[in-house]
Amino acid sequence: MEGLGFSKMILMLTIMVTLMGKMAKSELHYVGGTKVSWGSPNVNFTTWSIHEQFYVSDWLYFGYDRHRFSVFEVNKSGYETCNQTGFIKNITGGAGRDVFQLLEAKPYYFISGGGSCWQNVKVAVNAVHHIAPAPQPASPNAASDYSHINQTFMVLILVFIWGMLLN
Ligand SMILES: *[C@@H]1O[C@H](CO)[C@@H](O)[C@H](O)[C@H]1NC(C)=O
Ligand SMILES: *[C@@H]1O[C@H](CO)[C@@H](O)[C@H](O)[C@H]1NC(C)=O
Ligand SMILES: *[C@@H]1O[C@H](CO)[C@@H](O)[C@H](O)[C@H]1NC(C)=O
Ligand SMILES: *[C@@H]1O[C@H](CO)[C@@H](O)[C@H](O)[C@H]1NC(C)=O
Ligand SMILES: *[C@@H]1O[C@H](CO)[C@@H](O)[C@H](O)[C@H]1NC(C)=O
Repeated sequence: MEGLGFSKMILMLTIMVTLMGKMAKSELHYVGGTKVSWGSPNVNFTTWSIHEQFYVSDWLYFGYDRHRFSVFEVNKSGYETCNQTGFIKNITGGAGRDVFQLLEAKPYYFISGGGSCWQNVKVAVNAVHHIAPAPQPASPNAASDYSHINQTFMVLILVFIWGMLLN
């Protein structure tokens, strides 16, 4: 334990555990329940969605047959009418394994393109904050909102702290 004081080490470990706790809060949801559910005729995505709790910073995983399905983020009317024209984001990566991070507390809408949306390959998820926001103060304190600090950043901090510990 030379070079590094015990209390300093405890402090650093505490910081690490705290940061890891923040990271652990980002959950990965397999849309439809499994890694291959997107496009499955056996899944009712509405039923699946209402039984899941989605938090800001959580991830969605769309796994599917890339020759038949795709993933587009659309607005509410695009979702209701299965219209991908003017989509918000083309999430389709090409491999049939796409991820999407819910960055805001709002309803998100996803549909599969090329007509498959009509076979109910579509899902709406409502992302909420981990802790119900307190009544908004006059000037919102942006610093207390961790949701925009992404995991890459967290990992960099951890690597940095780890480097300091080893020095
Ligand atoms: C899916 O389930 C919802 C209720 O959870 C129901 O209203 C809807 O009709 C179902 N959709 C299909 C295609 O069965
Ligand atoms: C789909 O949405 C686009 C853009 O809003 C619109 O121009 C088009 O008419 C819609 N198509 C159908 C079939 O509703
Ligand atoms: C949804 O997006 C379409 C296409 O960009 C647009 O025409 C329509 O006005 C949007 N609807 C809403 C409710 O934002
Ligand atoms: C969506 O992205 C995929 C992969 O980049 C691409 O193959 C496809 O043509 C795109 N679709 C639209 C409608 O932009
Ligand atoms: C996270 O932040 C890094 C560096 O700031 C950036 O390169 C990356 O695209 C970000 N990732 C997401 C998912 O926002």
